[in-house]
Amino acid sequence: MMKTLGIETSCDETSASVTEGKRVLSCVISSSVEMHKKYGGVVPEIASRYHVEYIVEVVDRALRASKKRLGDIALISVTNGPGLVGALLTGISFAKALSLARQKPIIGVNHVLAHLYSAFLDESISPRFPFVGLVVSGGHTALFFCEEMGRQKVLGQTLDDAVGEAFDKVAKTLGLGYPGGPAIEARAARARKKGSVRFPKTNVGKDSLDFSFSGLKTAVLYYVRDRQASVQRKSVKSRAHYLTSEEINDICYAFQENAIDALIEKTFDAVRRYGAREVVVGGGVAINARLREKFRAAAVFRGGVTIHFPLPRHCLDNAAMVGFLGEEMYRQGKRSDVYLSAEPNLEVL
Ligand code: KG4
Ligand code: ZN
Repeated sequence: MMKTLGIETSCDETSASVTEGKRVLSCVISSSVEMHKKYGGVVPEIASRYHVEYIVEVVDRALRASKKRLGDIALISVTNGPGLVGALLTGISFAKALSLARQKPIIGVNHVLAHLYSAFLDESISPRFPFVGLVVSGGHTALFFCEEMGRQKVLGQTLDDAVGEAFDKVAKTLGLGYPGGPAIEARAARARKKGSVRFPKTNVGKDSLDFSFSGLKTAVLYYVRDRQASVQRKSVKSRAHYLTSEEINDICYAFQENAIDALIEKTFDAVRRYGAREVVVGGGVAINARLREKFRAAAVFRGGVTIHFPLPRHCLDNAAMVGFLGEEMYRQGKRSDVYLSAEPNLEVL
């Protein structure tokens, strides 16, 4: 079996892995998230510098954890887009240098597609083609029809914010810090007066499989502003101070239900239109337990569609998904070379 060294540096995680097909022998993730917290979001320059500082150590740790050496590696697979250009460049430059120095083939992988196929990793039951795939992350929200590994059609995308981005922005409005996803999920789970807050459903059009989350995000902002006006305590600095903790929980619940329902509606519309029997969800937001619960319920409700999620450790950015997809593409005859470059806006084809 060939072994692949995976490298991922598209955003704020520096990650390296050793994979053998879908088996993950090791996957090391070092995140600069703590350094971005005080800015309320990822600062590209800080992310890039962190990658430069840690990439060698992270790759070294991944090799050691897998009990393999560089000599055992048959392929280097690296994310080349989409993502932050400086961040991407670090991983790509490192991968190219290694490929040249050790005479190893190299392949560039699309980050969004790596998320899309991450449910194959380490799982005993692999999804069966064709399926409807949904990627929900901080940078992307996209729906696919996947005919075979690496051959997929984009059915819909977000017209504005990605769903993870909406989680992050709503959390900021409510003073819950960055990243927003985990905080909102935890708050929503504690909501007691479910249904006391409601946000209008976003209507993207019945025939469209696109998504839109900026209206929902703005609805939350206006709700908070209205509450602020009604409380009329002008001396309080943070808007969130106008809300009680219980109210914040209820807002988080209403927002999260609304966002998940929108994802479910379009995903199962696609299932119906394409006659698919399986659904695969990937990306950072797919770690959300409420999302999993609601998707599973929807799958049962709609005639026993089988639903697949990646293991939680493969939802957020990681190199294992990059190594896996790179190897699959390599087996299909695809190759990159020393001209591989960072493509911040790389499209999914
Ligand atoms: O896939 P990912 O690690 O990075 C991108 O490719 O963007 O996703 C990060 C996103 C962030 O927006 C974060 O808030 C969201 O995933 N996220 C969550 C949860 N944990 C992380 N969203 C909802 N619920 C969560 N528990
Ligand atoms: Zn990602």
